[in-house]
Amino acid sequence: MTDREILLFPDPRLREVSKPVLEITDDIRSLAREMFQMMYDEPGIGLAAPQINERIRMAVVDTRWGEEGAEKNPIVLINPEIIEREGKITWTEGCLSVPEFQADVERAFRVKVKALDLDGKEQVYELEELDAVCFQHEIDHLDGVLFIDHISRLKRNLYVKKRKKVLAREEEEPEQKLPPNFFEPGKS
Ligand code: NI
Repeated sequence: MTDREILLFPDPRLREVSKPVLEITDDIRSLAREMFQMMYDEPGIGLAAPQINERIRMAVVDTRWGEEGAEKNPIVLINPEIIEREGKITWTEGCLSVPEFQADVERAFRVKVKALDLDGKEQVYELEELDAVCFQHEIDHLDGVLFIDHISRLKRNLYVKKRKKVLAREEEEPEQKLPPNFFEPGKS
């Protein structure tokens, strides 16, 4: 079980630049496990450490597990760097830290990413399409960049306004704390 929460826009902590991981310790390994659990629970295809208030350069991704017949393929990226980019693709993106919003974002169609794995080994990933989009999105988080930074100011401002309204409403009527087991099993 985890009591961590995913930080939500406009939390300023999402805007900070994360620090490199200097040593892959047991804490790092257990954080990676927790991140996968949270990502699969949400559900999502990527989660970066700063989204759960750990400002280190680590992210977890698994882009295809939700597709029919697909198996899980969890990948941990430690200190990832994009070393090549090519072409362009527009993809409709969302983010666990940007509630109730999706927008078309233009990114590189193909990227080569180098990162350490949990054994401290350097891995090079050659990615395209959704995989390339997801890796770029997660690496952005490590620099305090959100996908809404890549859309027009007009669209972003509309979202910011909507989000402020939702937050103001939540402040007026704070969410009720529900007792455990309130939800029927099978629902979320
Ligand atoms: Ni995100």
